[in-house]
Amino acid sequence: MAGLIEPHGGVLVNQVAEGGVRDALIKEAESLPRLDLSHKQSCDAEMIGIGAFSPLKGFMGKADFDSVVGSMKLADGNIWPLPITLSVDKADAPAVGSRVALYAPNGTLQAVMTVEEVYPHDRKAEANAILNGAEDDGKHPGVEAVKAEGDTCIAGPIEVVNVCVDPEGPEAFLDHRLTPAQTRAEFEKRGWKTVSAFQTRNPIHRAHEYLCKCAQEITDGLLIHPLVGETKPGDIPADVRMRCYQRLIKDYFVDERTLLSVMPAAMRYAGPREAILHALVRKNYGVTHFIVGRDHAGVGSYYGTYDAQDIFNDLDKENLKIEPLKFEHAAFSKKAQGMVSGKTFPKIEGDQIFLSGTKVREMLSRGERPPGEFTRPEVADILIEWATGA
Ligand code: ADX
Repeated sequence: MAGLIEPHGGVLVNQVAEGGVRDALIKEAESLPRLDLSHKQSCDAEMIGIGAFSPLKGFMGKADFDSVVGSMKLADGNIWPLPITLSVDKADAPAVGSRVALYAPNGTLQAVMTVEEVYPHDRKAEANAILNGAEDDGKHPGVEAVKAEGDTCIAGPIEVVNVCVDPEGPEAFLDHRLTPAQTRAEFEKRGWKTVSAFQTRNPIHRAHEYLCKCAQEITDGLLIHPLVGETKPGDIPADVRMRCYQRLIKDYFVDERTLLSVMPAAMRYAGPREAILHALVRKNYGVTHFIVGRDHAGVGSYYGTYDAQDIFNDLDKENLKIEPLKFEHAAFSKKAQGMVSGKTFPKIEGDQIFLSGTKVREMLSRGERPPGEFTRPEVADILIEWATGA
C-alpha cells in the first residue's frame, strides 16, 4: 500500500473473521448470550469490522468516550469527534470478561464481542457533542436517537462474521460496497495518487455535481461515496438514490475518473463534528481530499452554514492528514449561465436558482421535473417514478 495516505492511527483495522475462525465463531455464538443491535449499532459494527472506523477495533470504552466528547480525541490522542457506543439497558448488560453474540435487526448473526468494560452511558454528554453548542429543542434526530438509547455502554473488540447483514436486500449494493482495503486497491489499480471523496445522503443535484466536478479538476479521481446506513424518516431511500447516482455518472461523469461505492454508516446529523468523522473515515478508505460544502451533515437550523468547515481550522493537520475541500453555497446563476458561489460571481437579486427540499418534493410528487438548472432531467425522472409510485 505504499504511496497511499495512511489510515487514521497508522494501521487499517480488519475485524472481519474468515474461514475456520469464522466457522468457530458461528459455532461459539450458538451458546453465547444474544444481544440484538439497533440499526445504528449494526451500521457501526460493520464500519468497525471493515476498518472504516480505524483505529477502533470495537465499541468505545469510557476513557475514549470521555476524551471524545470533551476534546474530540481518543484517549491515545488521535482526533475523533463522536462516540461510537454500544448501549443497552442496565439490566441487560453482560458481565465484564464475557462474550456476547451481536445480531443485526433482521436476525442475522453479525459479530461476536468480548466485553472488556461496562459503564454508565452519559447520554447528555453525547447529545451535547452532537449539538456542538446548538440549543436542544427536543427535535434534533441525532440527539433524540441518543436519548432513546440504553443507559449503559458495553465496550470491547468485535469479530465480524457477516459483513453485509442483508446481502439479498435492496440496499446491499454488493458490487458497490467496497471496504477500505478494496477502495485502496482500486485507487492503486487506477493509479490515483490523489483522490477526493463526496459524502452525500441525497440524490446528486446540480450543486452537488458542481462540487464533484471542481474536486475532479484538482485530484486524480473522485470517490462518490453515498452514506447508505440508517437515515432519518423522510430522507430518500438508498436504493432510489443509487439509481440516480448510476444514471448521473453514466451520462455526466468520466468513468475512468469516478468511482461509485457506498458507505454503510448511520447518519448522526451532527453537522460540524460529523464532518470530521466523515473526513477521517474517508481517509481510511484511502482518500486524500474531502468535500465539505454548506451545512455538511446538518439538519434543520442547528448549525451555522459554514460551522462544519470552520471546525477543521483548529485541528492538528498532521494527525488529520486528509484535506478538507471547502465549498461555499453553490447554485445556478441565470446571468452567468452556470454554477456559481459567492466566491466566484457577484450576488444579483433573483439571479440564482434556489429550491427548498420541500418545494422539490412537492414538484416530484406532482410528476413535475424541477428545472434542469437544479437537477438533471434523468435524475428527476427517477425521483418522479419513486415519488409518484409510477
Ligand atoms: S450531507 O448530510 O451528506 O452533508 P447532502 O447530501 O445534502 O447532505 O450534502 C452533501 C455535500 O454537499 C455536503 O458536503 C454538503 O455540505 C454539500 N452541499 C449540499 N448542497 C450544497 C450547495 N447548494 N452548495 C454547496 N455545498 C452543498
